[in-house]
Amino acid sequence: MPGELNTLRQELLDYIREHGAATDPLVAEALRTVPRHLFLPDLPPGAAYRDEPIVTKRDADGRPISSSSQPMIMALMLDQLGVRRGQRVLEIGAGTGFNAALLATIVGERGKVTSVDLDADTVERAKDNLDAAGLPDVVVVTGDGASGYPGRAPYHRIIATVGVWDLAPAWLEQLTPDGRLVVPLDLNGVQRSVAFEREEDHWTSRSAVLCGFMRMRGKFAGPEKTYVLDPATDLTLNLPMAREVDGDALTEVLAEKPDVEKIGAAPAAMQLFDGFTLWLAVHETRWCALSEKADADPARLAAAPMRAQDAAATAGILADDGLALIGVDDDALTVRAYGNSQVADDLVAHVRAWEGAGRPGTEGLRIDAYPGGTTGARGDVVLEKGECVLALSWPRSGVDAAGSRP
Ligand SMILES: C[S@@+](CC[C@H](N)C(=O)[O-])C[C@H]1O[C@@H](n2cnc3c(N)ncnc32)[C@H](O)[C@@H]1O
Repeated sequence: MPGELNTLRQELLDYIREHGAATDPLVAEALRTVPRHLFLPDLPPGAAYRDEPIVTKRDADGRPISSSSQPMIMALMLDQLGVRRGQRVLEIGAGTGFNAALLATIVGERGKVTSVDLDADTVERAKDNLDAAGLPDVVVVTGDGASGYPGRAPYHRIIATVGVWDLAPAWLEQLTPDGRLVVPLDLNGVQRSVAFEREEDHWTSRSAVLCGFMRMRGKFAGPEKTYVLDPATDLTLNLPMAREVDGDALTEVLAEKPDVEKIGAAPAAMQLFDGFTLWLAVHETRWCALSEKADADPARLAAAPMRAQDAAATAGILADDGLALIGVDDDALTVRAYGNSQVADDLVAHVRAWEGAGRPGTEGLRIDAYPGGTTGARGDVVLEKGECVLALSWPRSGVDAAGSRP
């Protein structure tokens, strides 16, 4: 069995590397050696070596509140973090302790890893798992990660493995002057894992990667809202902030035949998912995302252009008097309108603006983070958070400061 598990672990690493992650040899070595199955003791050991997130805890309503994240995104984020031997690292969101184990393997005996989780029972389990894996020196503590962990600061690296809406001042204060922060950051309802470093009076991104983490609980959860419209098919609506939604009426509307407007050749699904959804989220406050099981019958999202993990997904605008969604019909990109046609015109205008800007996506995205209340931050889009102001720009794709292509 151990030999078999070693083979499965190596195969998972090969798969991750084929997809462009674990490029840092220290990250690859950690994934090759740390046995993930010891951090998922309730699972048949072999199942731990699939590139899948595993939910380990749910709240009273059945929503996931702790998990072992998908190995691919863990590898990508560790690449972004660029941890070196002997460094001190803080993790927000201990979960099973697996990522902390990878970090401990990377920093080696001279380094120090501290991991914080909100739930005492999760912390106890993470400690047991780390002991079982022969890594008892990792310090796992219970607390709200928003405060960081001043007791073992300063840190060369801080990583959050839970979605954050804002940058906690404690993290920035507890980093060394040349330290790096990697967080799954909310950008109006979509997330990107962003690596930040100090630059003069602010923080600037060194890289950004598409991701989707469960939200941090507490002050940094953010206003994003998820509505399950039909549990039988997982028909789900995501909005960047809570608002009154008549779920039954919306479900009925989706069963109607929409007005379909063809607006050009369809870009690749990934370009829509990564680029257009991000563009829409940061330019349109009424934006929404809808998803449903891909094999749902009736298929309310049959023309949805994006498919992931057995779900069909699309994005658009939800207004009080209308809904417009992007779709793909006969290889053409379409806008599908239900109700008020102005909403459809607005969505077409966003598609045109995104295309005119050269279809920017996460690659080439730069994010500058300034202290909250800063005025005059320059970027294509400025997002006001509580503790910081984010200025987003796509300098490499040729989008100018007004958001249009020069
Ligand atoms: C996706 S899991 C982390 C996965 C983990 N790194 C691993 O390798 O298994 C997210 C974790 O964040 C924790 N969490 C949520 N809100 C938190 C907060 N405010 N402070 C600290 N931890 C929090 C959850 O309890 C959960 O265990």
